[in-house]
Amino acid sequence: MTEPSRNVELKAHDPDPGRTRQRALAAGAEDRGLLRQRDTYFAVPRGRLKLREEEQGGATLIAYERPDAAAERVSDYRLVPVAEPGPLREALAAASGVAVVVEKRRRLLMWETVRIHLDEVEGLGSFLELEAVAQPGSDLTRERAQVAQLREALEIGDDALVEGSYADALRTGGTVDAELLALARAAARNAYAPYSHFPVGAALRTDDGRRYAGANVENAAYPQGQCAEASAIGALVAGGGGRIVEVVVAAPSRELCSPCGGCRQRLREFASDDAPIHLADYERVRRTTSLGELLPLSFGPEHLAA
Ligand code: THU
Repeated sequence: MTEPSRNVELKAHDPDPGRTRQRALAAGAEDRGLLRQRDTYFAVPRGRLKLREEEQGGATLIAYERPDAAAERVSDYRLVPVAEPGPLREALAAASGVAVVVEKRRRLLMWETVRIHLDEVEGLGSFLELEAVAQPGSDLTRERAQVAQLREALEIGDDALVEGSYADALRTGGTVDAELLALARAAARNAYAPYSHFPVGAALRTDDGRRYAGANVENAAYPQGQCAEASAIGALVAGGGGRIVEVVVAAPSRELCSPCGGCRQRLREFASDDAPIHLADYERVRRTTSLGELLPLSFGPEHLAA
């Protein structure tokens, strides 16, 4: 079998693609224009297999494997030009099933041998990708240095890095407010958890766009400890109150950190059943659930009015 191609790549949330484009141009990148792409991911036993169809015509079958790390990662891939994408899509869908379809608008810029993608992904938001295409036989030192240099020029912070593919993100529950995620992680990093060593951050977004964060605050008298969600709700109330429409709970734990029973009830006071609750670590959103799922048949303020 022929060797796959390789690249060193990185993916990050990008709340301001216009600014990133300016920074890239200032660093010497060349704008190659806008692409509209639809990727159909098939259910396959190893790695990932997707058919990329471009609005301008042109289609490519892409098979790839890469680790799910949030930092720079090396991807092995094979590209096969496809002359008849429609029939191929149908054949593969019939044989193995479609896992997910990802549609995006991509602005492509080139800097040296690095592709810069400014992606607007339907249902997910805006992202930035760097792909340093490796020369055959390269030990990847040059490609890693290129990504590091560009990362600095584009000011991509650790908090913005994302793990996994767009397909994974869509499958695990879709959009997450990038700023809210960053706030929850920043709060977790400041948590006061000297007894459990289990730092947690929570961030809440209100229906009028305000964001509040809180961390868990423990105490030498253990029962006096407070969860991150309770701290964030305190900040929300102090900031003027309101309805919660999105929640992020972030913890570096290996186990999924889901709000405790008490905090589910605390959130119930200010959030509706369909408010998304994203459970994240420092690298990715691992699961998106809702208050209704976490606290079915719940009791709330309206029951008192009856
Ligand atoms: N903790 C939270 O802050 N939020 C949760 O959703 C789960 C647990 C905190 C409480 C305590 O300080 C530590 O995690 C260990 O239980």
